[in-house]
Amino acid sequence: MKVISTEKSQVLASRIAGALGTGIVDVKFSRFPDGELYLAAGPLDEETVIVGSVTDNDALVQLLLLIDACETSNNRLVLPYMGYARQDKKFRDGEPISARAIARLFRHNISDCTTVNIHEPDVLKYFGVPTKNISVGKEVGRYIGSMDLNDPLILAPDDGALAFAGDVASVGGWDYDHLEKTRLSGSEVKMAPKKLSSASRPVVIVDDIISTGGTIATAAGMLYQQGATDVYAACVHGVLIGGAYAHLKASGVREIFCSDTIERGCSRISAAPCIAAALKS
Ligand code: R5P
Repeated sequence: MKVISTEKSQVLASRIAGALGTGIVDVKFSRFPDGELYLAAGPLDEETVIVGSVTDNDALVQLLLLIDACETSNNRLVLPYMGYARQDKKFRDGEPISARAIARLFRHNISDCTTVNIHEPDVLKYFGVPTKNISVGKEVGRYIGSMDLNDPLILAPDDGALAFAGDVASVGGWDYDHLEKTRLSGSEVKMAPKKLSSASRPVVIVDDIISTGGTIATAAGMLYQQGATDVYAACVHGVLIGGAYAHLKASGVREIFCSDTIERGCSRISAAPCIAAALKS
């Protein structure tokens, strides 16, 4: 068995190979003069683990090319970050279910698929092969444990992320809650933990994705006003578009960290051990 990856998932793929005690396939990536993507995979084993996060359109096409290039082996797909997963239903007439459109692409040359903290687990039904979703919540919790925070409050930005916050908090037996928005006027919104107080304690806001960082930046300001000593932000998938990281720092967030499902400078947590364990089970 060997592991192979697209360009943007090569560090995570190497870590997965390490955790599985196997090698990684060398792949040459380039473009045709018209901009189309090209790749050529090195020698494959009988079984291949294909790793590729869909971080953008090129990464998606590269992953489809890679799956095709691996046609001579038995392949298992790992989709650490699935872009387009947030459009998981038709919010307005005429819209696609983008998550379904993407999931349906994965049906040829793969026997199964593993996703990591997919935005909406319900979309697993759209994949053309058996697909399981794993969570790196405990890994996020272990990283928070290593920070030695005094009685941290683990906070989800909304009730949809409360289960994830609970998973993270279970590692240290910490309190967890979710933020609740209250509209004070046409232009004013208050955000505060629904049940617990953030006063005189550090708060770690945890979510599956940080995209623009807008939600957490606004929340951080309000949590400081409510007496939080420090605010940290953690997520699985550091999409971090535009100046999200700097925006969060400028809003007073002490530290921002994510996993390596999207490879970033602040990827302090690796999803590799969980992915390797899922592939072995
Ligand atoms: C949304 O449903 C996700 O779980 C995240 O809460 C969202 O993507 C974060 O967006 P932003 O960082 O732009 O506030």
